[in-house]
Amino acid sequence: MRIGIIGCGQLARMMALAGLPLGIKFSFVADSGVDTDLSCVEGLGIIAPWQPGQSIEALYQALGKPDVITVEKEQVDLHLVQQLETYCTVRPSAASITQCKSRIKEKQLLAKLDIPCAPFTYQVDLAQSAATLGLPMVIKSLDEGYDGKNQWVVHDNDSLNTLAASENFGDHLIEQWIPFDKEVSLIGTRGHDGDIHFYPLTENVHRKGILIRSTAPAKHISPKMEAAAQDYMRRLLEAEDYVGVLAMELFVVGDQLLVNELAPRVHNSGHWTQMGATTCQFENHIRAVAGLPLGATTLTSKTGMLNLLGVAVPPMKALSSSSSLHWYNKESKPNRKLGHINFTAADYVSLDQQMDLAETHLY
Ligand SMILES: Nc1ncnc2c1ncn2[C@@H]1O[C@H](COP(=O)(O)OP(=O)(O)O)[C@@H](O)[C@H]1O
Ligand SMILES: [Mg+2]
Repeated sequence: MRIGIIGCGQLARMMALAGLPLGIKFSFVADSGVDTDLSCVEGLGIIAPWQPGQSIEALYQALGKPDVITVEKEQVDLHLVQQLETYCTVRPSAASITQCKSRIKEKQLLAKLDIPCAPFTYQVDLAQSAATLGLPMVIKSLDEGYDGKNQWVVHDNDSLNTLAASENFGDHLIEQWIPFDKEVSLIGTRGHDGDIHFYPLTENVHRKGILIRSTAPAKHISPKMEAAAQDYMRRLLEAEDYVGVLAMELFVVGDQLLVNELAPRVHNSGHWTQMGATTCQFENHIRAVAGLPLGATTLTSKTGMLNLLGVAVPPMKALSSSSSLHWYNKESKPNRKLGHINFTAADYVSLDQQMDLAETHLY
């Protein structure tokens, strides 16, 4: 069996590292405009360069005629994904990827399935949006947004007027600012036969819009909230006949959950599953897209993850007897995700202590 992955970043790397022991071969599509640093996937399989306009047939051949193709990011060329679907199975499907690529399509899907999310406006000017949503509010581009990029928070009327004078933002989504208690995410996986498994909710801390730290299971989450999150994701997975891992980011407000966004792929907030779950998200995604039975998502201990943002070299000193390092081999740049460390502990107090101590070696 050969799996083709569109993308050459750390998620492609970790999917391949999880699938190689199963005897699966990998190949990677390197979009020449986007995937400029290929070091994450070097040595893990065929790397096939591609640019828009090139023959899809030739690309499929160059990939070694994979049995199935998957993606490591939602910011992909949809035409490429749709065309590849005429050569082999694509999981999740081009339709599911399309649905999650645009924030407005995502919101419309949530509304259709009666899943709560932050109130928003679309194709409504800034002043009218402020009157409807109140301030603060956040302007988000429909696509091309990740790690807090391409979004602007409007705190007051002065910044509203300045922004309104600079651009009209008519094609952006504008969201009410949610004064959340915390952010959590749910990672779920659905097999080709409809089997669904969920990891426990993960608690996430962001710095300047970029995930810095995750803890699993999330603290102070009632069984009712856990069940609500799983119910929302089950509706999405079934409505889309989705195959693979899906990630759902949520805001916690009191005992309510609001869905923030979806990612049709393995997710940074699920990296802890490499150490704290029976089967990690990467292996489960590979199993799902390969049509294999899913592995158990059972938590094996309290687990945390620290992202290594802009850290120049592998931080060996931050390691302890109960942590593991995943280094992506990427060129170092400020705030770039260059690796992560997973930690396990018997309780939250010692987990937090370990992670706090490791952070002092990093930043
Ligand atoms: N409506 C909102 N209210 C409060 N915080 C928000 C809102 N939207 C986004 N944020 C904050 O910005 C972060 C990044 O926004 P998100 O929509 O998840 O975009 P990205 O695709 O960049 O991850 C979120 O994790 C959250 O901390
Ligand atoms: Mg996000």
